[in-house]
Amino acid sequence: MRDLPWPARAYLVAVIGVAAALIVRGVVVSGAPVAPENLDILLVLALLFLVCESMPTLLNVEQFAVSVSFSASLAAVVLLGPEGAALVGLTAVVSVRPGLPWIKRLFNGAQFAICGFAAGWVYVALDGQVGVPQVNAFDDLIGPYVAATAVFVPLNIVLTLTVIALATGSRATEVPMRGMVQFLLSYLGYGTFGLLVAGLWATVASISAVLVLVPLFVARWAFGQYHAQQRSYDATIAALCQAVETKDYYTRGHCTRVSHASSMIAQEIGMGVERVRAIRYAGMLHDVGKLGVPTKVLQKDGPLTEEEFAAIQLHPMRGLEIVRGIGFLDEAYAGIMHHHERHDGTGYPMGLAGDEIPEFAKVIAVADAFDSMTSDRSYRGARPVPVAVEELRKCAGTHFDPVMVAAFIRALEREPWQSPPRIGPPPPEAAESPIKDHDDPTMPIEVVTGQ
Ligand SMILES: [Fe+2]
Repeated sequence: MRDLPWPARAYLVAVIGVAAALIVRGVVVSGAPVAPENLDILLVLALLFLVCESMPTLLNVEQFAVSVSFSASLAAVVLLGPEGAALVGLTAVVSVRPGLPWIKRLFNGAQFAICGFAAGWVYVALDGQVGVPQVNAFDDLIGPYVAATAVFVPLNIVLTLTVIALATGSRATEVPMRGMVQFLLSYLGYGTFGLLVAGLWATVASISAVLVLVPLFVARWAFGQYHAQQRSYDATIAALCQAVETKDYYTRGHCTRVSHASSMIAQEIGMGVERVRAIRYAGMLHDVGKLGVPTKVLQKDGPLTEEEFAAIQLHPMRGLEIVRGIGFLDEAYAGIMHHHERHDGTGYPMGLAGDEIPEFAKVIAVADAFDSMTSDRSYRGARPVPVAVEELRKCAGTHFDPVMVAAFIRALEREPWQSPPRIGPPPPEAAESPIKDHDDPTMPIEVVTGQ
């Protein structure tokens, strides 16, 4: 807690104080926050909340984890009212999450208690009936329940994002709008399960919680496993990239930037989520075949012999050989294999032209050349973005597919490019730095024939 900036500390104290005041108020006003005959409902919902809260799963949005526990809170809004919902949320304090600091536990419990109470208050204010709903009265509680969910979810997000923003600066709130919409929809969708728990309680009582929330919890757990798998894929790809980049001081970060530029183009031309992910991998791995090219050829000062140039030209094939066994790459193979083909058919390794070139390869070719031009090399400094864009325009229709060039230019207008920081001369222990770069369309490799 002492490490936090004072605004974050003040905010934490305020949130925890408000939650404590709400609970105390419940005791003072009605003698007990929950009627004794409803203690079994409180116990079941609190237990369910605790189980779900103990295993949050990551969403497809960086920095966010979500648990289905809030469905139990929303069921408590209907079955127990505002004070009961606050108590259910408070159990987040004792969730089984080893290593979670006590201050985070307190904050989680407090913010869930506030959200539960606020949602319950709105539910009651809109004439929502508190208690086990009767079958013929079920329709009447749908409107108030939707309003309660519409309060709980944004309040939960705002309270959490505020503490992250205060504790870490504003970076944590820079979540892409698309990610935020996905997060919000996911939350609102899962909110409906709370209504099902409440609705089924009249018929099957506590079994309703098991019937509705446990399968949901298992689905979320499976989703979490999927994300863990994605993270291990990312780590594998990153390790391969690092292996390539250690061969060349000046191309550090190149794979990541090509990957980013490729996904910008892919999104611009309307590729689906799965293909964008695949092209991100392809961009990261496009030059992995350099691992199979002798370092002395990559670093050679001056013109290359025909044999040496042939070794360079083999790197897309070598790349394919290296990653062929990695099952999840799918379409990325084509991107790796053909990223040096040219639109006019004069590229390599197969001399494909126009529509013969796979779409992934067309995308990566533009991204690769652009990043090469806008980053420092041993033989020249980085070119400004407008100069590189002009070069892409000039080479559209000959070197590059004009559709991909146009898409990249549109994407750059929407999302300005962050050129990498200037690189000084390499330290003595990293003397590997090729004199020419085969990705740079403005500096073709010189080949000496007849040697
Ligand atoms: Fe390459």
